[in-house]
Amino acid sequence: MRATALAPPPSAPRAAPPGDLREFVGRLEAGGHLTRVRETVDWRCELGARARAERAPLLFTAIRGYPGWQLFVNGLFGRAAIALALGLDPEAPDRALAAACRRRLAAPVAPVMAPSAPFLACVAEGGAVDLLRLPVPQWSDQDAGRYLGTWHLNITRDPETGERNVGVYRMQVLGPARATVNAMAGTGLGAHLAKAERSGQPLPMAVAIGVPESCVIAGAASCPRGMDEYVLAGALQQAPVELLRLEATGLDVPAGAEIVIEGRILPGRRARDGPFFDYCGHVQTQPAAPVFAADRILMRQGAIFRGAAVGVAGGEDHQLFAFLARFGLVDFHGPRGKQRLQNVLWKHRRFRAIQAMGQARRALFPRRRS
Ligand SMILES: Cc1cc2nc3c(=O)[nH]c(=O)nc-3n(C[C@H](O)[C@H](O)[C@H](O)COP(=O)(O)O)c2cc1C
Repeated sequence: MRATALAPPPSAPRAAPPGDLREFVGRLEAGGHLTRVRETVDWRCELGARARAERAPLLFTAIRGYPGWQLFVNGLFGRAAIALALGLDPEAPDRALAAACRRRLAAPVAPVMAPSAPFLACVAEGGAVDLLRLPVPQWSDQDAGRYLGTWHLNITRDPETGERNVGVYRMQVLGPARATVNAMAGTGLGAHLAKAERSGQPLPMAVAIGVPESCVIAGAASCPRGMDEYVLAGALQQAPVELLRLEATGLDVPAGAEIVIEGRILPGRRARDGPFFDYCGHVQTQPAAPVFAADRILMRQGAIFRGAAVGVAGGEDHQLFAFLARFGLVDFHGPRGKQRLQNVLWKHRRFRAIQAMGQARRALFPRRRS
């Protein structure tokens, strides 16, 4: 009927997707989905414990030793938050949200280049580079140290073809300008690094923290063959991702990023990453993780740090993978049979079973890479 045809479907976009993390945080707050934590918290374990206990988006506004900094976690906790991140109706029922995303995935949207970016406002280079000037938490008392990369993007290019890879690989701070990059061998970054190392060259890498959530979702996804992660992010939010090409490395990062770190993965260098309290609710250690050397840190004025306290069943990383599994976009780079089982478990939100599988692997293969 005509009247029905004219009414917008329940999953129709309410607004354009949030252009950056700040806008997303603002929309969460306006919708009553955000809690501001105003009392002082310690980056050492306290912040992570609080994030795990409160299963809702949190903005920490007072971090001990880091005056002026804010830190955002749990951004994708719940269906309403995922809908808001993609510019969809947070009130829409789950099935309508999934249907809207399925339609969107069939309509790729290419990124566009921006002339400039707010993160060019503050730049530290050379001896001024100090990763611990950022409020990097130790997320759990079981972690070996402070984890810079828990909800971010790692951007590299294939040294031979120039093809781009955007992924999410955890990063532990090793020193003022050094961090691990825990990319597994089968990943896009792993393949780029293998090629760089064959020719003895460092692999340029950019780390982008505090990016639109669509980009983290796409970075964690197993991209359909031939599709770039930024195109996938554009499809999910039905708006192009705005990118800025970095001067030093020529890598493209989301222009709205809060913090960007440019540098290189050192050829042939490995260091221990972990123990780290990981998605499976247990510690994982990577005895020989690639090592990243940071050359430049760029940030917006009043940058907001973004991270995730993983390890709880149903945490935001689990929510992300459950979302992706509905569209067949999860790839944990393991044997095929195991992957199939994992996908079913993600899809049906059997988070404890996923955790049990991760822990069983650790018990069976204690020496294998995490
Ligand atoms: C919060 C979070 C942390 C992740 N940490 C890692 C990690 O440390 N190592 C890894 O190989 N994959 C990790 N992943 C999964 C990868 O991002 C995912 O497998 C992605 O598909 C990799 O992209 P690629 O296949 O293009 O390399 C993580 C994902 C999320 C959401």
